[in-house]
Amino acid sequence: MLHSVYVFDAYGTLFDTGAAVARHAGKLGEKGRDLAEVWRRKQLEYSWVRGLMGDASRNFWELTEDALDYAFEKVGGVDTALRAPLLEAYRDLDCYEEVPSTLRALKERQARVAILSNGSRDMLARAVRSAGLETLVDEVFSAEDCGHYKTAPAVYEMVTTHFRIYPEAVSFQSSNRWDVAGAKRFGFRTVWINRKGEPDEYLDHAPDVILPDLKPLPRES
Ligand code: LAC
Repeated sequence: MLHSVYVFDAYGTLFDTGAAVARHAGKLGEKGRDLAEVWRRKQLEYSWVRGLMGDASRNFWELTEDALDYAFEKVGGVDTALRAPLLEAYRDLDCYEEVPSTLRALKERQARVAILSNGSRDMLARAVRSAGLETLVDEVFSAEDCGHYKTAPAVYEMVTTHFRIYPEAVSFQSSNRWDVAGAKRFGFRTVWINRKGEPDEYLDHAPDVILPDLKPLPRES
C-alpha cells in the first residue's frame, strides 16, 4: 500500500449527482436531462466564481439551491412544485454501486479513507448516512470548514494538516477533472475517475492514474 490515506471527492465521484433528477424522471419528462445538466453546471460555476471573489458566505447547499432555481428558469416549463422533492433527493443521493466494496477493500488493507468536498457539513453528513457509508469513511472534510472552495490549496491542505502527512502520501480520487488538476497542483497522487469518458484537459496538471470507475482502485495502489 503506497498511500496511507485515500481521499475522495463526493459529488460525481462517490455520489451520483444525476440520481436526484432520475428519481423524478417520470414527472420531468424530456426536460429532466437539461435540468440536471444546468443544475450541476451552475452549482459548480457558483463555487468557482465565489471562490475567485473570496466570498464563501453561501455554502454549497445554498449554491445547490440557487443553481436549481436558475435551472428551473433557464429550462422553463418544469413544475416548480418539484423543487422541494428534487432538493430532498439531492440530500439522499445514491452512491455508485462499486463504492462500498472499494472503500471496504481499502480499509481491509489498513488504509484510512476520507471525503474532501465542497459540500457543506450537513450535506455530507446526510449523504454518508443515507448511502450507509458511515463505517467505511474515517474523516469527512468540508470546504465549509476552511472558508474556501476547490481548487483553493487551503481546501486540500485540510487533509495534510489533519493527518500530519505530506501531500504525496495522499491518493486523491475525483471524477471532476478540474478538481484533479487542483489536487495535483497541491501535490496529491491523483486518480481521475473518468466515468463519462470525457476528453482530457488541464494537461499541465495530469492525473497519475485514469480509471473508468472506482473498481480497479485497490489494485492500482
Ligand atoms: C465536491 C464536488 C465539487 O464534492 O464534486 O466537492
